[in-house]
Amino acid sequence: MLVNTLLPKDLFRGKTVFVTGGGSGINLGIAKNFAALGANIAICGRKQDKLDAAAEELRALGAKVFAESADVREYPRLEAVIQGAGDALGPIDVLVCGAAGNFPVPAEQLSPNGFKSVVDIDLLGSFNATRAAFPQLSQSRGNVIFISAGMAYVPFPYQVHVGAAKAGIDMMMRNLALEWGKYGVRANSIVPGPIEGTEGMRRLGGEKYDASRDRSIPLRRFGTVDDIGQAAVFLASPLAAYVTGTVLVVDGGSNLTGSQRFGEALEAAQAQMAKS
Ligand code: COA
Repeated sequence: MLVNTLLPKDLFRGKTVFVTGGGSGINLGIAKNFAALGANIAICGRKQDKLDAAAEELRALGAKVFAESADVREYPRLEAVIQGAGDALGPIDVLVCGAAGNFPVPAEQLSPNGFKSVVDIDLLGSFNATRAAFPQLSQSRGNVIFISAGMAYVPFPYQVHVGAAKAGIDMMMRNLALEWGKYGVRANSIVPGPIEGTEGMRRLGGEKYDASRDRSIPLRRFGTVDDIGQAAVFLASPLAAYVTGTVLVVDGGSNLTGSQRFGEALEAAQAQMAKS
């Protein structure tokens, strides 16, 4: 359900929004929130069939859509797709760096290549996208939104690779905000909390995690993809025209109580993975 009826339906009319990892989950939810406000949408991801299905959903909201497969770790292909999106839809106004990889694993069992995979997707992949989109963003005086995570601030068990990658993203975001302000380009991050129905929650929380019973989430519920989509729309909109270099935490207040609430769920998920 999209709840963005408070904003003008043509707020992003004629604007191009590019979302990495936009084929599913939070990233597709973000793309839908922009599509509902008139934006044209470009998405990339590793699987073309997943992107095609997402493109249909976005077209149903009235968006012009460009959907091409690209792994954010492979710069030449990503650069070509970002260029292609600009050619098809007009220069990118909003870049959402959402492509991410995650799996829970104790640090002493994580291989160097496993650590590298996540850092390559999350951190290097986000840099690759911003670097490739820069000529278009500076032309449009646009903005970048990075999808960070609570692990960037509080260590979560079995998330050493993700914490390192996401903390890197947020520092990179601040650097880009500092350097690219002179081009009129803003950069900000969103930290989503536990969002229902996402791959991330399946991987981290397991099937049994129930946010409504979790007393460590002050708002006592899962977040929705629209909660994150709304935050992204705000950051990209003129309402946030003077906002750059910030982290917007959208987690129902769950960062206030630390990471141990996930300890049990992560241990259960880890035990389950070890068996399979
Ligand atoms: N536990 C421990 N190590 C793991 C692992 C797990 N569950 N899954 C992968 N790895 C390790 C692999 O063993 C490999 O290391 P090795 O060469 O030393 O054996 C390394 O990570 C790369 O694995 P590979 O499967 O080749 O990587 P990939 O690039 O195909 O996939 C991942 C990337 C690993 C991040 C994979 O989980 C993925 O594709 N995720 C995308 C979706 C996702 O994570 N969504 C959640 C977002 S919050």
